[in-house]
Amino acid sequence: MSQASTVSLTRYLLEEQRAGHINADLRLLIEVVARACKSISIAVGKGALGGVLGDAGSDGEASINIQGEAQKKLDVLSNEILLEANAWGGHLAGLASEEMDHSLPIPDVHPRGNYLLLFDPLDGSSNIDVNISVGTIFSVLRCPEGVTTPGDEHYLQPGTAQLAAGYCTYGPSTMLVLTIGHGTHAFTLDREIGSFVLTQRDMKIPEETREFAVNMSNQRFWEPPMQRYVGDLLAGREGPRGKDFNMRWVASMVADVHRILTRGGIFSYPLDSKCAGKGGKLRLMYEANPMAFLVEQAGGAASTGRQRMMEVPPTGLHQRVPVFLGSKAEVEAAVRYHVEAD
Ligand code: AHG
Ligand code: MN
Ligand code: MN
Ligand code: MN
Repeated sequence: MSQASTVSLTRYLLEEQRAGHINADLRLLIEVVARACKSISIAVGKGALGGVLGDAGSDGEASINIQGEAQKKLDVLSNEILLEANAWGGHLAGLASEEMDHSLPIPDVHPRGNYLLLFDPLDGSSNIDVNISVGTIFSVLRCPEGVTTPGDEHYLQPGTAQLAAGYCTYGPSTMLVLTIGHGTHAFTLDREIGSFVLTQRDMKIPEETREFAVNMSNQRFWEPPMQRYVGDLLAGREGPRGKDFNMRWVASMVADVHRILTRGGIFSYPLDSKCAGKGGKLRLMYEANPMAFLVEQAGGAASTGRQRMMEVPPTGLHQRVPVFLGSKAEVEAAVRYHVEAD
């Protein structure tokens, strides 16, 4: 691709600002997050040579996060990179992370801005030590009027309130996928010049698909409608769906969602009796909602199986939800199995 025709992330964001879609503050916030993702990409890329693999914690003691998960070193490092990058920029009033029990107002030694940043600093942690793609997921909300020191309750806004959302996938190439509410666009990191370059404007998810992504080992724990739905997928062309399906499961939501944004598919992490008490496995505020925004902006759909994801009224910072997202017609089919069963 010749330099002349390339559109960098900076140019894309400036053009969006000129179009009135974002203001300078939000533009600069997204640039800060993208820069932090570049640093995380470098750390992830070092692998064993960077001393960043394996579990966090010291002298044999695992470091357990608010989710009850043993943290990986890269979970902690990625979280620190995002905190440090965003502390002094002046765009944020506060931030919330999968890896922090509570949200954090920007320290008052720095100027505060009007936005709230929520993120999953390292998604797919179980894949770090086996060299499979991982990612970072982020979501931007407005800090409520008149709130200068935001608390957890100020983040509890539905997905429809998001001003921007995106992820960075650290795979064979590092790609930033972003929406500010005007389509979903993909940028590839040009490591030689150190900037993200627009490589896919206006991603569109095919309405129909033959590919599903679910962790089949949980099948015996699913609700009956989910059993029926997946059973019909597995029955293939002889079954009620009348076509054969393929399956993929990376166990990094970012990697599975990126495949779906690129070629279609349905991703599901449904309720199962193992995590039903917690509402599901995946987190609403910094996994399901940002992904739902990206998917809807690409013409797809995102649901809990019974409700549009972005209309779920949040009740907690680390709230979990069942997730169905991807090709619109397939998500609607999966939802029908659940709604008809109720
Ligand atoms: P995280 O690593 O941020 O905790 O997220 C992991 C999530 C998600 O990325 C993935 O789709 C899912 O967990 C995989 O769950 P299983 O390991 O149960 O398949
Ligand atoms: Mn985790
Ligand atoms: Mn995650
Ligand atoms: Mn994570």
